[in-house]
Amino acid sequence: MGAGLPTEAVERRCAAVKLASAGLAFGERTLWQGLNLEIAPGEFVAVLGPNGSGKTSLLKVLLGQLALSSGTADIAGGSARAGNPDIGYVPQQKTIDAGVQLRGVDLVGLGIDGHRWGLGLRHRAERKRKVRAAIADVGAEKFAYAPLESMSGGEQQRLRVAQALVGDPKVLLCDEPLLSLDLANQRLVSELIDRRRRTHDTAVLFVTHEINPILPLVDRVLYLVDGKFRIGTPDEVMTSAVLSELYQTEVDVLRVRGRLVVVGTGDAMDVLGAAGAQHPHGAMLSEELPESSGVRS
Ligand SMILES: Nc1ncnc2c1ncn2[C@@H]1O[C@H](COP(=O)(O)OP(=O)(O)O)[C@@H](O)[C@H]1O
Ligand SMILES: [Mg+2]
Repeated sequence: MGAGLPTEAVERRCAAVKLASAGLAFGERTLWQGLNLEIAPGEFVAVLGPNGSGKTSLLKVLLGQLALSSGTADIAGGSARAGNPDIGYVPQQKTIDAGVQLRGVDLVGLGIDGHRWGLGLRHRAERKRKVRAAIADVGAEKFAYAPLESMSGGEQQRLRVAQALVGDPKVLLCDEPLLSLDLANQRLVSELIDRRRRTHDTAVLFVTHEINPILPLVDRVLYLVDGKFRIGTPDEVMTSAVLSELYQTEVDVLRVRGRLVVVGTGDAMDVLGAAGAQHPHGAMLSEELPESSGVRS
């Protein structure tokens, strides 16, 4: 064997996701443009930003549901297109309509390539095996055969993750998968996804309002605000200077006991929520935190 390519070059060639000069506009309104992003297999990238900044639209581009206005989007070895079985998708959580008697196991089965169904006994047995394995992977054996509407939010979300992973995708796209989950389930779902990318080299693009539950897992952050964006490690992006520039207002990022506290953006990322913009930045918060509270910078 020859010396081979440097690791960096190999990763670049085999990027799981590659956006080049990508832009998306609706009429006069440009959500983002000039976006260059390559995600390596197994990399965990968080997408942050206020409501309406175009996070969901970015996932829709990669799912082939929306066309870029400029540039190119490649994913899992080809141009973004609808129905790519190498992409797993956890859509933003919807409540299950009462009366829909879909069981957990049926939901997971929907994640398997539809057109292969009914091709014979061998395929049916294989499908059953995969569904069972995916259910076991998320620890849902005990409740997977119950109707979805009878489950807690955390149980439903674990099965949605199983559905997204049952086809063994190269890329996993998640849209606010922790929304409305309690802390224990936020951790459980995040760790399931993290384990998968480590064991299967699945690239993860994870849209979230709340970075703290996934902060220890994230390799890089794409932070979108009103047409502007920054890409880098959490330490590079989640700083007062960078967020102040993105939001065009004074924003403070504090580290408190390993958590990030963001003050002044006025959106849901903010510790003060929508009220944040009305308060002088940080004043309320710092009064509440004694010197010994672990605030580092
Ligand atoms: N198909 C569409 N046509 C026109 N505007 C759209 C369309 N899809 C999304 N938008 C607009 O683009 C903006 C960004 O939406 P979205 O990607 O859902 O943001 P986010 O997920 O960051 O909250 C919103 O203002 C939304 O109304
Ligand atoms: Mg969204």
